[in-house]
Amino acid sequence: MTTPPPVPGPTPSVGTAAHGLRDRTVVLIGGASGIGLRVAHQAVAGGARVVLGGRSAERLATAARSLGDAATWRTVDVTDRPSLAAFFEPLERVDHLLTTAGTYQVGPMLELSDEDAESPFVSKFWGQYHAVRLAAPKLAADGSVVLMSGAAGARPPGPAPAYAACNAALEGLGRGLAVELAPVRVNVVSPGTVDGNLWQGRPAEAREQAFAQYRRDTLLHRLATEDEIAHAILYLFGNGYTTGSTVYPDGGYTLR
Ligand SMILES: NC(=O)c1ccc[n+]([C@@H]2O[C@H](COP(=O)([O-])OP(=O)(O)OC[C@H]3O[C@@H](n4cnc5c(N)ncnc54)[C@H](OP(=O)(O)O)[C@@H]3O)[C@@H](O)[C@H]2O)c1
Repeated sequence: MTTPPPVPGPTPSVGTAAHGLRDRTVVLIGGASGIGLRVAHQAVAGGARVVLGGRSAERLATAARSLGDAATWRTVDVTDRPSLAAFFEPLERVDHLLTTAGTYQVGPMLELSDEDAESPFVSKFWGQYHAVRLAAPKLAADGSVVLMSGAAGARPPGPAPAYAACNAALEGLGRGLAVELAPVRVNVVSPGTVDGNLWQGRPAEAREQAFAQYRRDTLLHRLATEDEIAHAILYLFGNGYTTGSTVYPDGGYTLR
């Protein structure tokens, strides 16, 4: 008598309610502006509640007003552990977490002060690490974390080695946390240059030079929009079988 072959269980279809954002709590530290704010708008459009974090109460209140009743906010500084702990303390459950917060200096090793050289790690790397650590006990088993990296980690556009290393380290952190936190999924988004809030705040000459270089060096010969990066993040929140991955919405920059 032959044993019948094993029958695979049903494959959940993509886009079922279990993978949707309706009534889920999405925490966005850095969500008062830029990519985080576009994620907030897309998540609220999908039926989520969003909790915004950042350092400026005024900016957070303005952002929350633009999102309506689905948004709440609280001030937080990701470089300050007690402040991060106080941010997460009142939250009962976190379904999805993204931290775009970070303020850092970028430049050549031989020109930056030690403090400036360390700033991407202090703010962007350890800020995200500690945010995930504090959120971990509250993360839903079918929830997810998206870490923010950047295409400069795979292809530095100029001499800024500590910043490149920070982004590469975040991609490794994503793989490590995916193993530790499973079944919670952990993924990384590594955007190319975005024509948005971050660059609008930088000096015009540096911005135009960086934009021209990026248009030349990427396959699609244009910059990203914040909404295109937010769309990639929403995919990572929603796809129940993606974990430990890095997604590169960079117009093909890292291929050239
Ligand atoms: N835009 C790009 O071209 C690009 C490309 C690749 C990667 N990235 C990455 O994306 C992230 C920036 O996102 P973005 O482009 O959307 O820029 P953004 O608009 O400047 O967003 C950053 C947000 O983080 C908040 N923030 C900064 N430092 C903080 C801190 N210490 N604690 C808490 N909140 C803080 C800011 O608000 P407050 O100042 O009010 O706190 C702001 O709302 C960075 O990690 C950057 O490396 C961006």
